Amino acid sequence: MVFRFVCYLVVVWLISASDESCPEVPAVENGIIVIEETEGQILGTCVCIKGYHLVGEKTFVCNASTEWNAPVPTCRPGHCPDPVLVNGEPSSLDPVSVSDKITFKCNEHYILKGSSWSQCLANHTWMPPLPVCKSRDCGPPGNPAHGYFEGKDFNSGSTITYHCEDRYHLVGTRDQQCIDGEWSSALPVCELIQEAPKPTPQTEFEKALFAFQENKELCKAIENFVQRLKENGLTMEELKYSLEIKKVELEAKMLS
Ligand SMILES: *[C@@H]1O[C@H](CO)[C@@H](O)[C@H](O)[C@H]1NC(C)=O
Ligand SMILES: *[C@@H]1O[C@H](CO)[C@@H](O)[C@H](O)[C@H]1NC(C)=O
Repeated sequence: MVFRFVCYLVVVWLISASDESCPEVPAVENGIIVIEETEGQILGTCVCIKGYHLVGEKTFVCNASTEWNAPVPTCRPGHCPDPVLVNGEPSSLDPVSVSDKITFKCNEHYILKGSSWSQCLANHTWMPPLPVCKSRDCGPPGNPAHGYFEGKDFNSGSTITYHCEDRYHLVGTRDQQCIDGEWSSALPVCELIQEAPKPTPQTEFEKALFAFQENKELCKAIENFVQRLKENGLTMEELKYSLEIKKVELEAKMLS
């Protein structure tokens, strides 16, 4: 009973010309509410006593309206906020006192990011800040513009390979591995391959040559022809020789 009485502290510095429209300041168990008048509005600030921490908004105001702009906060046991560690465990879940130190451990398959310990300070904060537990698996990676990746497994240790669309070449790291929740390298880039501009045909001869170069079927035919010669054991020298003979024959025919 005595304990409750002592802890039930409400200090209100009532403003002399109190604005009647503001509702009465509520009591906060284990906390102190300080009321000030600033720039025509009434400002309430809640401070928790030693061994308790604040949950909710620290300050709230009442100006011309008849309500406080935020719900009145509460003071809960524990000098610092509960050390919540999703996918992990703090060394203690008991309410903490000033200068208590706790350590953190993540569940299997999670990696700790931040400090593995923290201390509760007089100003109700944890220092260093509370860490987080991050999954060791990676999320699906992004795709570069004009590119895509190959691989279905994004778990820790798995690899993926990047490819670019036709006419694009890859700049960056092609193979990437998921290491403790992060891909080993930055996303590669697919760059357009700069093609040399095609020459514009000039003379009739160049036009013919150009047409010849453009003619894929003819090229294919010549390729096949050369291939067949090779298969028959003819050397380039022999081929050249037989073509020379063909040429002479043709010239003789034209002259006659
Ligand atoms: C009351 O205070 C709030 C918060 O500062 C402000 O957004 C609002 O405009 C004020 N209302 C009036 C009537 O002054
Ligand atoms: C609390 O105190 C520590 C050390 O005195 C300081 O570094 C930190 O900024 C303070 N935090 C807040 C919210 O005032």
